[in-house]
Parts: sequence; structure tokens; C-alpha cells
Amino acid sequence: MILDSLVQAVGNTPLVRLRTIEPPGVEIHAKLEWFNPGGSVKDRAALQIIREALARGDLPGRTLLDSTSGNTGIAYAWIGAALQIPVALVMPSNVSEARKRIARAFGAQVIFSDPMEQSDGAIRLARKLAQEEPSKWFYADQYSNEANPRAHLLGTAEEIWRQTEGRVTHVVLGIGTGGTVMGTGRGLRAKNPDIKVIAVEPAEPMHGLEGLKHMPSSIVPRIYKEEELTQKLAIDTDAGWDMA
Ligand SMILES: Cc1ncc(COP(=O)(O)O)c(C=O)c1O
Repeated sequence: MILDSLVQAVGNTPLVRLRTIEPPGVEIHAKLEWFNPGGSVKDRAALQIIREALARGDLPGRTLLDSTSGNTGIAYAWIGAALQIPVALVMPSNVSEARKRIARAFGAQVIFSDPMEQSDGAIRLARKLAQEEPSKWFYADQYSNEANPRAHLLGTAEEIWRQTEGRVTHVVLGIGTGGTVMGTGRGLRAKNPDIKVIAVEPAEPMHGLEGLKHMPSSIVPRIYKEEELTQKLAIDTDAGWDMA
């Protein structure tokens, strides 16, 4: 198979069985989102946001602007390079050096926000820039853009349903913008309303789980609807890293 563009390599990630951590009688599978070209699940949302903006005519002609703690930025940056769309990213200045370099290597402009304000500081700065010069920027706004959960409704959920041949009973997903958990949850529940949708957030406001949000102390994303969840779990940083 020859792909016409790297963007066609987004999604269709494998499921792998985690036998070593399965309790008796339970199957646990992990979806290998790092198989996406940009190395994370966020390729899916970024691509859907860009596709819908192109279809509406919001792009090309402006620079795509968004706030991101890293992986969405990498996704916008490489997809922008592949589709020849200029990209500017607002991120807290303390995100990892690797993420900054990857974004720049793909040609994205990087704008830094106050590290003490974490991802909410990046959101506030991106909003301010977009308000000041609306004709310069296409503000992608992954926290409010329904294309974000739609990527998972159309992609992630369909894939999990197909890969498990409809046997899936529970899904467990991290919360950053909430796009993954909202879209995947909706997509799977449309197939089987009994499926349990469990979200995982960092246990503390100041945590080391980059990309994930502690909701009680954050600006709650417009796309995030807690009432759709079956349950929410809080995981501390060390436990999260040990399992990963
Ligand atoms: C590796 C990784 N997983 C999950 C998430 C959270 O996904 P979502 O924004 O869809 O809630 C992020 C967010 O940046 C991430 O970087």
C-alpha cells in the first residue's frame, strides 16, 4: 500500500493484550497510540480539526494557532508541514526540551506562556492573541472544538469496536482536553449503551503527568461533559509513571 500523504497514516493503531496485569477472567488491552506518526493520540484530534477547518475554508490563508502542553503541538506541527499550513503554538515554557525541538523542527512557531500557570496560562495567552488579531490566526481551540471528540467518535471508538469484535465492556481513558474520553465514550455507547466509560485524571493540581488535567483546579474544557462518564479515577504521578 502506498499512502498519498503521511496524514493517511493517522489512526488504526494496534491493540495489545496486557496478560501480565490481568486479574483472572478479565482481558485488558492497551491501544498503542504512539504508533501514530506524531507519536501520540493527539494526531487524531489535530487532523480532524484541520480537516474540518479546510472544509469550512478557515484554512489555508491564516496561521493555525493553539495552546498545547506538547503532543497536540507536535501533531499540528507535522500535519502543518505535510499539508503546508503555517502553525504557531503557545506552550508553558517548562514543557520538555524534546517537545519544543520537535515542534520547531517541523517549522512551527513556538510562543511561550508562564510556566507557573501551566496549561491554563497557555490557553489564556492563545485566546488573547486570537482576539487581538482574528484575521491573522485560525484559533483551533482544541478545548472547545467539537472536531476534537469527533476524531475519536469516528476513529478511536470504531477501531476499538472492530478490534474487540464488539466484546469491549469498559474503556479507561486519560483526560487532557477530554476529547479522547468524550468521543470514544460516545462512539462506543452508540454501539452498546452498557459500556462503562472511565476517565483518569491526575490526583493533584501540581502533577507530573504531562498532557493530563486535574479538572477540579483547571479551566474546564467546553468539550468535556463529566456527566457522560461512568466514573472518574484519580491517579498519582508515581503510580502513573510506574504503570506506563
Ligand atoms: C499522550 C497523551 N495522552 C492523552 C492526552 C489527553 O487527551 P485528550 O486531550 O483527548 O483528553 C494527551 C493530551 O495532551 C496526551 O498528550
